[in-house]
Amino acid sequence: MTKPISVAAKTRQIVKKHGGGKSAMIAVLQDIQEAFNYLPKEALKTAAKAMNVPMSRVYEAATFYTAFSLKPRGKHIVKICKGTACHVRGAAILQDRFETTLGIKPGQTTADGNFSLETVNCVGACALGPVVVINADYHGQVTINKVDKIIKKINEEGAQS
Ligand code: FES
Repeated sequence: MTKPISVAAKTRQIVKKHGGGKSAMIAVLQDIQEAFNYLPKEALKTAAKAMNVPMSRVYEAATFYTAFSLKPRGKHIVKICKGTACHVRGAAILQDRFETTLGIKPGQTTADGNFSLETVNCVGACALGPVVVINADYHGQVTINKVDKIIKKINEEGAQS
């Protein structure tokens, strides 16, 4: 069995891959978030040291972009589009359904760490509204019935892996 890699070791690998320096900061933060689903404090400290930049600069970049999260997030990130086109097509009803099904509000993560719920502005697929993005997958014309099916499918896939 392989030993799990520590946050610091993984972060050093990521910095090494991008070559360090301020110009690589965003790419490093993106990879850290991809690895841990959020930006752990330990990873930010390690990255600052490895890139030889002040922690304040790393923190500034980490908080500037809304795509980055400093809070632990679930394995699957459910983003409900609340842009105008999706709003008029029932995004609020979908949000209610996701909240009820998952038992969490936007900004929260389920106790099993499986799902986080977020609301976002227009994701650029208005014609497909209402749109829900789960991880990198776009789900268009989502209905209340589809919500349960989507969650069930993800849970089944997780049980098989
Ligand atoms: S408003 Fe939802 S994709 Fe544009």
